[in-house]
Amino acid sequence: MPPTNKTVPESVEHPNTDIETPIPDLKPWFRTVDDLGGRISWSELFDNDHPVELDIGCGRGLFLVTAAEANPGTNYLGFEIDYREGRRAAKRLQKRQMPNARVIGGDCRAVLEKLIASSSVRAAHVYFPDPWWKKRHRRRRIFTDEFVTWLHRIVEQNGHVHSWTDVGDYFEVISGLMDHHKGFVTLPTPAERAPEHDMDYQTSFERKKRKAGCTIWRGLWQRVELSVD
Ligand SMILES: C[S@@+](CC[C@H](N)C(=O)[O-])C[C@H]1O[C@@H](n2cnc3c(N)ncnc32)[C@H](O)[C@@H]1O
Repeated sequence: MPPTNKTVPESVEHPNTDIETPIPDLKPWFRTVDDLGGRISWSELFDNDHPVELDIGCGRGLFLVTAAEANPGTNYLGFEIDYREGRRAAKRLQKRQMPNARVIGGDCRAVLEKLIASSSVRAAHVYFPDPWWKKRHRRRRIFTDEFVTWLHRIVEQNGHVHSWTDVGDYFEVISGLMDHHKGFVTLPTPAERAPEHDMDYQTSFERKKRKAGCTIWRGLWQRVELSVD
């Protein structure tokens, strides 16, 4: 899914009329990176001090909705570079008036690097990240050494990083980076769960890929103090 980090227009032309339909205001469920204005205050964003988990590349938000409903004492923040997908996720949250899930539209990398306080996040979920194999697209790839360094800085001690993908070669890249980082320990592979209903999957991509019969690679790591050899 190519990123379309477009500016959201103020309004859209209604087809065949001169009526303009305003794009619905999805605040507080959807904001952009530019709206943040500076370092994120979790207590201002969620109006409480509950633990925070990130969904990096949240797509249309199935994980955000399911996890936030199942765990009302945890706050979930999705990042999505594709505004259309991010707004779709936010609409699902708005429909349910969910107090504990939000979406930020835009490239999450600047936020992870600079706008999140150290050790302030309980877990980061990175489900089905785009592999971007072509050399000219490589800079869009999310899992890099730098990204793992940012995760280590923002995830709290004993917190977790979850990453799943259906692309075996990309899972090798991801686990290579995570397994060799001295600030993470690799935990046993999470087991595959039989769905109890048609939407009972971790994410929309997991649903699509499992229905197509693909193997899903699942990784789980725990954040520890950086060991010095
Ligand atoms: C293959 S989709 C997976 C979506 C969702 N996690 C799922 O499993 O259904 C990867 C998503 O990551 C988003 N993405 C890629 N790079 C990103 C970035 N730098 N910041 C935020 N989102 C990003 C893409 O727009 C896309 O929606």
